[in-house]
Amino acid sequence: MKSLGTLDELPAEYLESLRARNLVPLWPSLRALLPPDQPRTATQVCRWAWSDIRPLLMRAGDLTPMEKAERRVLVLANPGRGLEALQASACIYLGMQLVLPGENAPNHKHTPNAARFVVEGTGGVTIVGGESCPMEPGDLVLTPTWLWHEHRHKGPGPMIWLDVLDVPLMVAIDCSYHIDGKTQKPSRPAWTYASGGLAPVRDGVRSTAEYPLLRYPWARTRAALGALATSLPSREPVLLAYINPETGADCLNTISFSVLMLRPGEETMLPRMSAARMLHMVEGDVQALIDDTTLDLTQSDTACAPGWTTLKLQNRSSKVPAFIAMADESPVHRKLGIFEQR
Ligand SMILES: [Fe+2]
Repeated sequence: MKSLGTLDELPAEYLESLRARNLVPLWPSLRALLPPDQPRTATQVCRWAWSDIRPLLMRAGDLTPMEKAERRVLVLANPGRGLEALQASACIYLGMQLVLPGENAPNHKHTPNAARFVVEGTGGVTIVGGESCPMEPGDLVLTPTWLWHEHRHKGPGPMIWLDVLDVPLMVAIDCSYHIDGKTQKPSRPAWTYASGGLAPVRDGVRSTAEYPLLRYPWARTRAALGALATSLPSREPVLLAYINPETGADCLNTISFSVLMLRPGEETMLPRMSAARMLHMVEGDVQALIDDTTLDLTQSDTACAPGWTTLKLQNRSSKVPAFIAMADESPVHRKLGIFEQR
């Protein structure tokens, strides 16, 4: 590859006269801007252990009342992008959120799309656009862009969940902001999509809501994975995508959510793709090999596999299945026409 001129080859007075006019020579930075063959990503392979997070999050509960936090969250920051950037990857933000019994996280809405995987607790609800979504461990609850949402917890013990948002993307395009709202009165009954391929019809019509399904209960997801596992050949991965049941599109516009079941002892290789992936253990123990980094992941651990990395996953148990929830940036790549898988 041809080497290009560098900044230190240029006279200081020339550089100074450029800078004074807000001008920059491209050629010294061209290779960094457009590297050959493959992008250079700042996102690193990373693991956030639940055993580390939980005690520190509970301490945040002691240190900071909800009124001072609004959302009491520890951000799972990728060191490759700089901790202060609050990013797990280029497009994805991850945060572990705590709501204690009797607390409410107030109503607001924002441009970023959000979803949460419930990690611990029972009795909490997220109210989204007037719909009350109960929160049980393993559930996926959506709060898409501009839908009002608030969290309430009347149950015993802490409620903890993993927030997954596209904040870094919204910040990058100068579009990240929120609006506070008054407490919602849950009024809209949920459209119940109880089984795949069957859409509810009410008053003679199907749902016309842009996001007709806001809660994906874990009990149903787990049962669907179990049913799929019995019908697939033993070497074929058991993988389900969380989709919009009326359009078949990804359940959020910018982040794709899916869940993988590994049968006892099963090992699988996921396709190498341009988009970064987040892994979150819902149940079980898995060994992940991301390029040449080995990570042991146990229940409620979270990890990042940057774009273009190879990803091999093995269930470390020979007796019970493992379930891994995943969130990835592929919808953004597809919409930009740059998605690759090879
Ligand atoms: Fe929010």
